[in-house]
Parts: sequence; structure tokens; C-alpha cells
Amino acid sequence: MLSRRNFLTAAVGVAAAGTLAACAKEDDSSTGSSSAGGAKTISLGFSQVGSESGWRSANTTSVKDAAKDAGYNLKFSDAQQKQENQISAIRNFIAQKVDVIAFSPVVVTGWDAVLKEAKAAKIPVVLTDRSVETSDDSLFVTLVGSDFTDEGRRAAKILDKVLTKAGHKGAVKIAQLEGTTGAAPAIERAKGFKEVMDAEHKDWKIVVSQTGDFTRAGGKQVMSAFLQSNPDVNVLFAHNDDMAIGAIQAIEAAGKKPGTDILIVCIDGVKDGFVAMSEGKINAIVECNPLLGPQLMDVVKKVKDGETVERWIKTKESDFMQDQAKAELPNRKY
Ligand code: AHR
Repeated sequence: MLSRRNFLTAAVGVAAAGTLAACAKEDDSSTGSSSAGGAKTISLGFSQVGSESGWRSANTTSVKDAAKDAGYNLKFSDAQQKQENQISAIRNFIAQKVDVIAFSPVVVTGWDAVLKEAKAAKIPVVLTDRSVETSDDSLFVTLVGSDFTDEGRRAAKILDKVLTKAGHKGAVKIAQLEGTTGAAPAIERAKGFKEVMDAEHKDWKIVVSQTGDFTRAGGKQVMSAFLQSNPDVNVLFAHNDDMAIGAIQAIEAAGKKPGTDILIVCIDGVKDGFVAMSEGKINAIVECNPLLGPQLMDVVKKVKDGETVERWIKTKESDFMQDQAKAELPNRKY
């Protein structure tokens, strides 16, 4: 089984076959089959998770813009957060004989069959943003994306700073809003956070934890239930900004002050998250950079040309405390 911790260098060469039509929203930015210089235009099939968050929208824009800038023929498919749609889209890309397939897997398991089809058709697969668990390391070439376990660790470390800054005394009762069940960022962020908690903060307690599916609506609904079942919660760890923003609405509706009565740490760093942080409603944000498009196009070209690429091309990211929010807000690109 492959894990994100695998840093082996991988040679290119994969493939597959298949003919099912995709159920997801398709978008073909075809610009013809040849570039001005006569070289064949690279055709890239990209299956996106959906449009569940601000992060995802920024990621989609980055991929589309970078493909345009690189002059690729991008076949874009939005899976609307359904694995079956992604599998259909990948089969569709195989049937269209694209040069490279890239996708951001909605969940980690259940990909072996379709990836074997890609391999059989000799179409290399590049993962972006999220990883998969597979029985065969050769089923994808590389992952371009963040270290989610480390993001979870960073969230716990920055929470420690937030508690100190707030002069917090007494029990630390944490509510955790998890991302989509079975998705790499949900599994790994929870794992990294717990790892630091278990090692350094045995007195902290996650008193309630549930998925909000990475959406604002999910965050609001689940937080409002948390506040009823556990009114003494004093910390929220949300796996993304959107769920934190939804949760803020629930906290305010319950007559409490987000960022003061309930300290909030979340992950992503989208503009709306920074706005909420500059208003004092979020205490710290761990950045997860969605602008993966240019790196992805670079990797796709190398893979197409048969060059060797690193097994995991990691994204560089920062952490932000509330007192940095106002100054940083104008610099946010997404
Ligand atoms: O996979 C990245 C995660 O997916 C982002 O943190 C979240 O906002 C998105 O939906």
C-alpha cells in the first residue's frame, strides 16, 4: 500500500483502457491538436473533486489558467464530490486517449481497478492535492500536493500558541470539524493533530468530532449540534476555513463570541478565512496552498516526455496568527 510518506523517485510509464461515459460536468478547453511550432499539443484529462470550498474554486482556476498558459488541451471534469463520477471521468479520458490523466481523489480507497485500466492503456496518472491507497505503486507516477499530516501537527502547535496568547486557563475541550469522510486531508489532518496532542498536550481533549464535508453548510449544521450536545466546548479545530466560517455563524447564533468564547484554528488560508481572522473571529490559520496549476503543468510535460519525477512534489506553506491577518489580507491571492 502506498502512503504519502513515500519519497521514492518514480520513473514514468503507465496506461489503460475503458469506454464508460462520464456522469460529471465536462469542460473541454481544446485548442486543436498541434501547437504553433508543429509539436503535438499535450492533452490532459483532469478530474476535479467538486466545488465544495473556496480552496477548491481557487484550485480549479489555477489548473485551468495554467493549462491555458501552457497551451495544453485540457479536458476538465467536475465530479461533484462523488467517487463514481471520478471513475467515469477517468474511463472517459482513457477512451479519448489523452496523453496524461491528473486527478484529485475525493477519497483514498477504491481506485485500483480504474488505475489498472489507465496503466493497461499506457496513460500515465498524476495525483494532485490528495493521495490514494493502492496495492500497486506503479499505478500513479507522482503526487503534487501538501503534507496534510504535517498541517494537522502545525494546527496543534499553533493552537498551543493561541491558548497562551489568550491566557487560557483550565480544561481544553476541543470540537473537531472533520473534512469529507475517507478523504486524505480529513484522515491525515486528524492524525497529525492527535499525534501532537498525545505527545505534548495530554490534558487537551477532543470532546466531539464529526464530518462537515468541507462545506460551510456542513460546518454550520454540525457546529450547531455540537453546541447543543457539548455547550462547554472552548476550542474549535476545523479541517478547513469554510467549515470554520459556517461554524462561526452557529456560534454567533448560540449567543457566543467566536475567537473569544471559542478559540478557532482552521486550515486553508482563503481570503474569506483571512477576513474572519482580521475581524477577530478566527485565532489562527494553517495555510494549505491551492495554487497547484503551474507545478502540475510542469510535471505533466516531464511525465509526457518520459522524464523521471519525484514521487511526491510537496507544496510550501506558512502559518498565520490573528495579529498578522490585517497586514496579510491584501496579499492573499485566493
Ligand atoms: O484537499 C484539500 C482540501 O479540500 C481543502 O483543505 C479543502 O478546503 C478542500 O475542500
